[in-house]
Amino acid sequence: MECFPHVERGIGLELNAEYIERTNDKLYGKPYADRINVIHGDFFKLDWKSITCELPEPILVIGNPPWVTNSTLGILGSQNLPQKTNFQKLNGLDALTGKSNFDISEWMALRILDWFAIASGCVALLCKTAVARKVLQYACQKSLPVVRSRLYPIDAREYFEASVDAGLLVCELGEGQRNYDCSVYEGLDNSVCLSTFGTREGQSIANLDLFKRWQHLEGGKHYQWRSGIKHDCSKVMELHGQFPHLTNGLGETVEIESLHVFPLLKSSDLANARRQFRPRSVIVTQSRVGKDTQPIREEAPKTWAYLMQHQTLFEKRKSSIYKGKPCFSIFGVGDYAFAPWKVAISGLYKQLLFRAIAPREGKPVMLDDTCYFIPCNSEGEARFLSFLLNSQTAQQFFGAFIFWDAKRPITASLLNRLDLFKLASELGRGEAFGYYEAFGYYRDSETDFSFASYNENRVSNFSFIV
Ligand SMILES: C[S@@+](CC[C@H](N)C(=O)[O-])C[C@H]1O[C@@H](n2cnc3c(N)ncnc32)[C@H](O)[C@@H]1O
Repeated sequence: MECFPHVERGIGLELNAEYIERTNDKLYGKPYADRINVIHGDFFKLDWKSITCELPEPILVIGNPPWVTNSTLGILGSQNLPQKTNFQKLNGLDALTGKSNFDISEWMALRILDWFAIASGCVALLCKTAVARKVLQYACQKSLPVVRSRLYPIDAREYFEASVDAGLLVCELGEGQRNYDCSVYEGLDNSVCLSTFGTREGQSIANLDLFKRWQHLEGGKHYQWRSGIKHDCSKVMELHGQFPHLTNGLGETVEIESLHVFPLLKSSDLANARRQFRPRSVIVTQSRVGKDTQPIREEAPKTWAYLMQHQTLFEKRKSSIYKGKPCFSIFGVGDYAFAPWKVAISGLYKQLLFRAIAPREGKPVMLDDTCYFIPCNSEGEARFLSFLLNSQTAQQFFGAFIFWDAKRPITASLLNRLDLFKLASELGRGEAFGYYEAFGYYRDSETDFSFASYNENRVSNFSFIV
């Protein structure tokens, strides 16, 4: 009321009686106290229609709604939810909020926006940035009269001890051209717009300027991104040390043949720029998904005996993908996994850094299922693809789509979005690309001029794990 002295009527809502009491105490004696109605009630039970229809316009809604998710509330035994019946009928919302784990603030924000189907005003809510995006998607889907939106990031750790990306979402609603793009500012006190996110053809775009600039690089698949090996039995399958001196995750010494043992890199190896990393290996029991594992008994009897010795741990694997499959089955395996060179990125870490991976001790390096990679035939091809992917152009292309606050911002579908041929052409390397894609080699590729200069300029970002 002090910030907006022209406000005719104020309504406050809170569930917690103690806060209501404190607010009323604070209001006592204030010149605007008689223009304020502090309601002790539940947001989800109030008849908002009758309240809002009596308010003079424009209406300003300011709130710091709870950031708790419904699953957390479930654990706490709380009933702080819209009525279940309502909730289930809202199929559109269900789809938007995804797998029934949503923030209470999200529900509140969506309800509040609905009031503005018939009123004009402004909504200013502190919320997670992920919630801000969903709220605007919802407004777009329902063609609500949003005309302008801004997001001012805040340091949620400092203010609320919450390690989450959050900000003040401000949406203006009323007459005028509908617009669901949202400008992101540097901070609450800053008027510098850093980027704009929005929706285009039903897809969320993190940075509309970058999208406009590099959209033409989207398209056909020239190389396919793969994910690494999945086994869900790391204590047995992942081995430490240098062959033949291997130990497993149970602390046991493992004496097995080298046939099924391959060098392994995990997300942390890729992300932490470790040139000197702890050597790790993985037992690869199949060369393709579903292949019979019985031949291991003959080919590598010690390996078979080791696997049999730990059979119960394999049987305990929870995922249904292993059901009805040969014993000791793995996933994320095929010809591509045995390619001698690879270009890889961690899917767990929030950085866009692609690395060329060299074979080790004459064997192709395997990646775990938290990594994505493109199989390559030669060092030249792996270097060439890393050069393309680490280019500023590719980084900006991915930047158009990546919401860094997502749990796993880097996914195979994001990576597969970029047409590497178009990228190579954009960078004047279309011809080399054609050769690499067709043959895995290009002229005398290992000494290709472009890599020498590239290497010198960007050593830190272009580490090879050799
Ligand atoms: C993040 S706190 C904000 C508190 C205070 N308004 C502020 O800005 O400091 C969220 C508040 O929402 C209240 N709340 C939670 N669920 C509610 C509901 N269903 N109806 C009304 N208030 C609710 C909580 O009691 C809590 O005080």
